[in-house]
Amino acid sequence: MKMKKKVSIPEAPLGSTGKPIPLVGFGTAQFPFGAATEVVKESVVHAIEVGYRHFDTAAIYQSEQPLGEAIAEALRLGPIKSRNELFITSKLWLGHAHRQLVLPALQTSLKNLGLEYIDLYLIHFPGSLKPGTGFPFNKEDIVPLDYEAVWEAMEECQNLGLTKSIGVSNFACKKLERLLATAKIPPAVNQVELNPVWQQKKLRDFCQEKGIHITAYSPLGAKGTRWGTNRVMECQVLKEIANARGKSVAQVIFSFF
Ligand SMILES: NC(=O)c1ccc[n+]([C@@H]2O[C@H](COP(=O)([O-])OP(=O)(O)OC[C@H]3O[C@@H](n4cnc5c(N)ncnc54)[C@H](OP(=O)(O)O)[C@@H]3O)[C@@H](O)[C@H]2O)c1
Repeated sequence: MKMKKKVSIPEAPLGSTGKPIPLVGFGTAQFPFGAATEVVKESVVHAIEVGYRHFDTAAIYQSEQPLGEAIAEALRLGPIKSRNELFITSKLWLGHAHRQLVLPALQTSLKNLGLEYIDLYLIHFPGSLKPGTGFPFNKEDIVPLDYEAVWEAMEECQNLGLTKSIGVSNFACKKLERLLATAKIPPAVNQVELNPVWQQKKLRDFCQEKGIHITAYSPLGAKGTRWGTNRVMECQVLKEIANARGKSVAQVIFSFF
């Protein structure tokens, strides 16, 4: 049997109550959402075998179920002995960003994952859609986000023990300030697009000052996706550094973080 080399991934502390977050995570979004669920499952099992412990999903990705199946498979096969060895993040979709829909949305995510709790629950975007709206959506479906009420419901999810930590995604400084003004539990994490050509210094400084951990998505720029760009992997400066150091552009980018 072919041996799989296992890597060890450093962690960062998360707030006062949360579990430490492994600094390298494995994304499970496939576009169109819900496509290739078997690939997601197989990839996650393999990722666990080689040492990944942090997995990122979202209600809208429709990858919660294959991720949950992969976790069950990994427990059965043995690379992990307990679910507690993993760090699982999921996200509240905009159509559920209403006070009364937050807890049921998390309960649905937990059912999809087959888990009793997740480690991190994020508000996916600083916005809201008419209750129950999915993806894609129309402009007319967009409604104002009630920051205070939705965050209160997120806090309730943490207090109930259904998630160890709560946070946000795609929030700029002003939106974080608005949330922090009434939050009893400050967001532990802000997951945003971050890479060498989109460094977000102001946001990073703000989050550092407030003790909010930043998770970067699209660190390589997400070439070939509908929303991403080639600008990161094709960046001339990064290519020159990579050539000079005898490394790949991707390796140079990861040393930036
Ligand atoms: N919170 C949010 O709003 C949000 C938004 C986007 C993503 N995410 C999360 O972040 C995860 C990762 O998303 P991502 O945007 O970074 O997309 P990704 O699909 O993980 O990677 C983007 C691109 O990087 C390339 N790549 C990967 N490894 C490489 C390597 N070693 N060398 C060269 N190219 C490499 C891939 O190219 P090839 O296809 O050619 O292999 C891929 O097209 C998602 O699955 C999701 O969980 C969150």
